[in-house]
Amino acid sequence: MNTLILTQDDVRSLLNMKDTIAEVETAYKSFNSGEVIQPPIMSIILPDLNAETDIKSSYSASTEMICVKSAPGYWDNVKKYNMPTLFATINLFDGKNGFPVCIMEATLITGIRTGAAGGVSVKALARKDSRVVGIIGAGNQARMQLRAIKLVLPITTVKVWSHIPSEMESYKKDMEAELGVQVIPCDTPETAVIGSDIIVTVTPGNKPIVMDEWVKPGTHICAIGADVEGKQELDVKLFSRAKVVVDSKMQCTTGGETLNAIKAGIITADDIHAEIGEVLLGKKTGRTSDEEITIFDSTGMSVQDNATAAGIYKRALEKSIGLSIKFV
Ligand SMILES: NC(=O)c1ccc[n+]([C@@H]2O[C@H](COP(=O)([O-])OP(=O)(O)OC[C@H]3O[C@@H](n4cnc5c(N)ncnc54)[C@H](O)[C@@H]3O)[C@@H](O)[C@H]2O)c1
Repeated sequence: MNTLILTQDDVRSLLNMKDTIAEVETAYKSFNSGEVIQPPIMSIILPDLNAETDIKSSYSASTEMICVKSAPGYWDNVKKYNMPTLFATINLFDGKNGFPVCIMEATLITGIRTGAAGGVSVKALARKDSRVVGIIGAGNQARMQLRAIKLVLPITTVKVWSHIPSEMESYKKDMEAELGVQVIPCDTPETAVIGSDIIVTVTPGNKPIVMDEWVKPGTHICAIGADVEGKQELDVKLFSRAKVVVDSKMQCTTGGETLNAIKAGIITADDIHAEIGEVLLGKKTGRTSDEEITIFDSTGMSVQDNATAAGIYKRALEKSIGLSIKFV
């Protein structure tokens, strides 16, 4: 048996947002059907180097694969070595016999499966008549989230805020050309939030940016940026009047935006309404009125990588893409 090696260009040619949304939706359902074993995330922290390597792993009976993603982030790489700051590799093993079927580049996978997560949450929890999206942050995830949301709802207008004005201009240029939506750069986060039907938070910030009083009834919030302890984008008071849906209760109570509201005593872990897989499976209710505020707190799960990588591997075999070698 051979092992397939997929480079970043190979992966790019095999990835698209539509397939990834379907794969991530299946992954969330598998997670809440007892089909997934997903150990806690391991992190190697190297403070002297301003670096962190996260290792996320899972077995899924749905894909019949074991997926291990190693993702080093060396934040000083650009200035020290003129190298990218993020690298990631996925190893896929056949769940039936453990054979290493594929090694693939995975930085694009992380980006697209996170966008897909926001898209799945919008499909499940946002008002169907939502047309205006407010985006806090104008980087990679601001793009990925909008691509996914546009696929699940006919969004017309995007209000974007970033603390770096030039980022908003490039975001407007890129997204208007790619998606045919109107993008309005905003001077303040308040302007981006007020009147928006869907709010997406995608910064690595560590203090509230979206204040409770700006958010109207019926809003859906995709809380994406705060994925580890110490990060924060939402005013904790929002949690007292929202239906809170998370990707993983375990991860979101130890490292997500929900943790901030729990620490502040606004809610307890028991107030989390559901994991998103439970909503998708119909085990728990989703939105029940046009007045409800819903928050989807995403910390990013290995099972999303597993489903996305398994899909890429399958398409690579069908299209004979990649380098097949006798590895073992
Ligand atoms: N939940 C998940 O599964 C998941 C997956 C991938 C990334 N993330 C997180 O999403 C966030 C955004 O990732 P990205 O790839 O878009 O990053 P990026 O660097 O491409 O974009 C970040 C954006 O936030 C802005 N920003 C930076 N620091 C800020 C601060 N202190 N306050 C306000 N704005 C600030 C930047 O100017 C930029 O607009 C990060 O926190 C990342 O860790 C989460």
